[in-house]
Amino acid sequence: MKKKIEIILDGQSIRVDEGKSILDAALENNIYIPHLCFRPGLDAFGACRLCLVETSDGRLVTACETRVEDGMEVTSDSDRLNRIRKVIVSLLINEHDGDCLKCPKSGECKLENVSSYLGINAENLAKLRELKIDNSIDDSNPFFLKDNGKCILCGLCVQSCDIIGVNAIDFAFRGAKTKISTFMDKPLLDSSCVSCGECVETCPVGALVKKSEKPSREVKTVCPYCGVGCGIYLGIRGN
Ligand code: SF4
Ligand code: FES
Repeated sequence: MKKKIEIILDGQSIRVDEGKSILDAALENNIYIPHLCFRPGLDAFGACRLCLVETSDGRLVTACETRVEDGMEVTSDSDRLNRIRKVIVSLLINEHDGDCLKCPKSGECKLENVSSYLGINAENLAKLRELKIDNSIDDSNPFFLKDNGKCILCGLCVQSCDIIGVNAIDFAFRGAKTKISTFMDKPLLDSSCVSCGECVETCPVGALVKKSEKPSREVKTVCPYCGVGCGIYLGIRGN
């Protein structure tokens, strides 16, 4: 049996197994810390930086990668942290293809949920949407499609593909051109992908979705380009 230790999280004393990450400890105790690139059962990757928390000595650490220590005091919800998270999420949404209402992941998309949690202001996002990167769609696979415009580069699909030993996808290119790609950027159907669907299961947004999947709900989005075309957030129409 694992030794229990005590930490203070957001002023609340909780007992957790030694060796757990701060994020695991928080989630087990129903304390939500925003996160995108973490999924229980897969290795923490530290890619999104959304799970940043503050230790009592003022350091910012990723909750998914940092192990709990006995007596540790951690703050997961503060103005400073939420300001940083808003910048991170705003930049992600800026590069995100925003037809949220038509997206099969609508209602289950972690990016959408975290945006809503942080109260991301859609007007500010509209100002940011100038740098558009690769938003091509690879629909060569008969079962699922890969929408590059929705990918947040969390790397969960790469890790799950690696775990099952197929290694069909990986990060490719650099800087703003970074994307998840097959070897030589071939269409999925021409790659070593075996269509197992593991990557589709792990993707937290609508970047890898089954072709048979339909939007899971009708309306609730913070996205300024949701696909309805109301134009309110763009200032084209008043509200
Ligand atoms: Fe993450 Fe999905 Fe992009 Fe893969 S395709 S990196 S799981 S967002
Ligand atoms: Fe910790 Fe992404 S969830 S860095």
